[in-house]
Amino acid sequence: MGLKSTADRYGAMIVSIHWLSALLIVALIASGFRAANTVDPVAKAAILRVHVPIAIAVLALTIVRIGWRWAYDRKPNPVAWMPRWQEFTARVVHVLFYVIILGMIASGIGIVALSGAAPMIFGGEGALPDFWKYPPRVPHGIGARVLLALLVLHAGAALYHHFVRRDGLLSRMWFTGGSRSQLQRGRS
Ligand code: HEM
Repeated sequence: MGLKSTADRYGAMIVSIHWLSALLIVALIASGFRAANTVDPVAKAAILRVHVPIAIAVLALTIVRIGWRWAYDRKPNPVAWMPRWQEFTARVVHVLFYVIILGMIASGIGIVALSGAAPMIFGGEGALPDFWKYPPRVPHGIGARVLLALLVLHAGAALYHHFVRRDGLLSRMWFTGGSRSQLQRGRS
């Protein structure tokens, strides 16, 4: 398996970034909700000390992913039997992922910058502010729920293809296997 994607499967670079980002985003959603539901400021700051660096790692991975796709890589072909509406929905969900992830990072940075909470989170100095007093907290909360819904839709579709259709679509996004090349439609 090479670093670059081919007509019938994703390459090692995109596969690695995909699963690492997935893992980190699940950790972000869990740690974010945990922080929001924690009243004790010391415990909340400790959770945010993990939450913020993970989010910066996701930003770095997303930039590398976009740059790699733009400069070196192309998506594998759509599979021939997939109805157009499913292909279209998948594309919309993929674009929305980028928009929401980058929006979450921007609003997260906005919350910390406007509230001046960085010294409290990372240096343990002073009391944590009430983040809800700062406008980016609202889109950060809405984005978190939309992201969760997209994840359920995305993972549900992948599992449907794997276990119900048994079409090898999920293995295109893994290090071994790949869907049958005779099912490919014209390269996009
Ligand atoms: C993809 C990136 C991110 C995801 C998925 C994410 C996820 C979440 C979630 C699920 C919540 C709880 C929302 C709620 O209960 O309404 C949250 C809260 C929060 N996040 Fe993030 N976040 C991300 C990026 C960031 C970044 C980059 C920062 C800061 C630089 C940040 C700082 C915070 C803060 C300060 C809170 C508020 C905690 C509270 O209200 O007590 N987040 N995040």
